[in-house]
Amino acid sequence: MTDLFEEIQPIVCRDGKVFFLDQTALPMETRWVEVSSAEACQDAIKKLVVRGAPAIGVAAAFGMALASRVVQEADFEGYQSRMREAAELLASSRPTAVNLFWALARVEKKIAESRGRSVTDVKAVVEAEALAIQRENEEVCREIGVQGQAVMRDGISILTHCNAGALATGKYGTALAPVYAAKERGLRVRVFADETRPLLQGSRLTAYELSRAGIDVTVITDGMAAAVMSKGWVDACIVGCDRVAANGDVANKIGTYSVALLAKAHNIPFYAACPLSTIDLATAQGSDIVIEERDPLEITEYLDKPTAPQGVKAYNPAFDVTPSRLVTGIITEAGIVYPPYTENLAAALVRGVRGA
Ligand code: MRU
Repeated sequence: MTDLFEEIQPIVCRDGKVFFLDQTALPMETRWVEVSSAEACQDAIKKLVVRGAPAIGVAAAFGMALASRVVQEADFEGYQSRMREAAELLASSRPTAVNLFWALARVEKKIAESRGRSVTDVKAVVEAEALAIQRENEEVCREIGVQGQAVMRDGISILTHCNAGALATGKYGTALAPVYAAKERGLRVRVFADETRPLLQGSRLTAYELSRAGIDVTVITDGMAAAVMSKGWVDACIVGCDRVAANGDVANKIGTYSVALLAKAHNIPFYAACPLSTIDLATAQGSDIVIEERDPLEITEYLDKPTAPQGVKAYNPAFDVTPSRLVTGIITEAGIVYPPYTENLAAALVRGVRGA
């Protein structure tokens, strides 16, 4: 999987400068935003300029690198406490995707392990760690694509929700990685992309990247999924996820739970795909996951035009939780994890630890 992605990468670090591909502008406009401080990075994550769980983690790591560059303190303790503040700021951007907290913890661990070295050296360690997190996410997503081939076959039709593709990760995607890998193998794959109300990540982003890669994609509104399944047009559902609890409950874009229920009703397998870094054993079950609530205006307006009567109430949770009983399997870089999830997720994490 090489050339399909030459241009689709949400975060680029070039000559020390950090750029995000502005995903609020796609597909109408390809606009790169230079991000030059932790504050700007936090703001970009909040506004979904950069979005998707793994990409948020990569962005946060670069946010730490940007914060590090401007720390004035020359002593380790002073440096570490400024970086703690930066981590807290970045952590406040969005609550649900565990990859954000995972990446921040990873950078902070590197800092702690560097105690005794000069602050100049520690700054270089932080820069290198951000780049490593990005590079590793690319490798991991490529491997998710390889592992996901176990569920792919020639002529398969997949339904996906939101965008868990190249735009949401270091590269390649999670839910879409098996689709891209299948295309590379010469298999014919058809994808139904739920448009994904209210911010249309499915129609704006998934359809954008799949059509650019020459993959047969059909956009449907979220409410059409049942009808499409009832016609026998969907062989499997594959979605991404923002956090997997220890018991296998999966948090993902609002509407994913409905897709899983519909899949169950139509006897269609339902897979979540994610890097191991999305599995959070510290969260026992889905009800413990903090679900981000966003501005109701995202529902009552679109492109600054009202879509509901002025002043009407709107409820806008960005994610929902799909109970593990509806999840056929979780596709990771360490293989597909099947129930019983409590045992098998923990084992996958042990298996997946690099070098173990
Ligand atoms: O609000 P978003 O666009 O960040 O939501 C993204 C999703 O729900 C994705 O499916 C998830 O983060 C997985 S991305 C590989």
